[in-house]
Amino acid sequence: MSLLEEIEKTYEVACKELESISGLEDLEKFRTLYLGKKGSVQSILKKIGSLSIEEKKTIGQKANTVSQQLEELYSERKSYIKKLKMEEQISGEIFDSLRPVDISGSGSLHPITKVREEVEDIFVSMGFQIMDGPEIETDYYNFGALNFTEDHPARDMQDTFYTEDGNLLRTHTSAIQARALKELKPPFRIIAPGRVFRYEEIDASHENTFNQVEGMVVGKDISTASLIYTMDQLLTQIFHKKTTVRLRPGYFPFVEPGFELDFQCMVCNGKGCSVCKQSGWVELLPCGLIHPNVLKAGGLDPEIWTGFAFGLGLDRLVMMRYGINDIRYFNSGNLRFLKKFA
Ligand code: DAH
Repeated sequence: MSLLEEIEKTYEVACKELESISGLEDLEKFRTLYLGKKGSVQSILKKIGSLSIEEKKTIGQKANTVSQQLEELYSERKSYIKKLKMEEQISGEIFDSLRPVDISGSGSLHPITKVREEVEDIFVSMGFQIMDGPEIETDYYNFGALNFTEDHPARDMQDTFYTEDGNLLRTHTSAIQARALKELKPPFRIIAPGRVFRYEEIDASHENTFNQVEGMVVGKDISTASLIYTMDQLLTQIFHKKTTVRLRPGYFPFVEPGFELDFQCMVCNGKGCSVCKQSGWVELLPCGLIHPNVLKAGGLDPEIWTGFAFGLGLDRLVMMRYGINDIRYFNSGNLRFLKKFA
């Protein structure tokens, strides 16, 4: 093997090895083995001394580049492992409502707010703007403009509280879609986080007041591929890891086609475990391409404009993240609960 081949081989083997390292101790062993005083890179550099001037130049340069690249990969891996460890700690710290806690001292952000701000940062970095809308909505923005006709059966799944003047507590942040279409000039990308309300039987996983993050992208030639790409980015940034997503058909009057988007379970890599209920997949959100009738209601020509939308359920995401097993804690005002996230 020539020295050049040896350098390339060393780099290749080191990269493979690095990928499989998940602990800081092993990472330090890696550093000594490859980048240390008696490591592979140094022993290659020593051999360069006996080469001709011409070879010294090219091979020396190559060896230095490889050494720098390995240093960089090492540092990247180090921060990645540290981040993972921190997240493990957070999610491993399952909330225990019976454990006593000191409730004196100052207040702090609610866990929903914390995760919402993280999601906002991710979308803002992708060029989305954040929009808001009223919690008391008109029937038109909540249903009519979203292609729910007067007696559409899909209305039954979103029963809510009505005010005496005929308005309602919005059942989803999708109500902001119609407002965005009217207010903004396309092309645009928005997310709209907010509280939503339903007439629900309350239990550990159902609340009458919960939180969603609506997403909407309007432009020319927006396709399902754009939707998948954006969701891929969201997941990669939330979990700091490349993920695989899949779409299943789903029905909502305001999208066509409509989907349920799942990601491959990261705990078992899709093999099946208790987290994904043995299916290998975890449900993330419903989404789809904006229905032409919705674009028309917003005053846009569906022959020119296209788009996608999604509705992320924030409460479930926060519950998964912190191992909270009862949605009712969120609105309980229970200081013991809130203090856990101080
Ligand atoms: N608004 C729907 C709900 O709360 C969720 C939803 C589905 C939002 C599809 C979307 C979408 O933007 O495209 O049940």
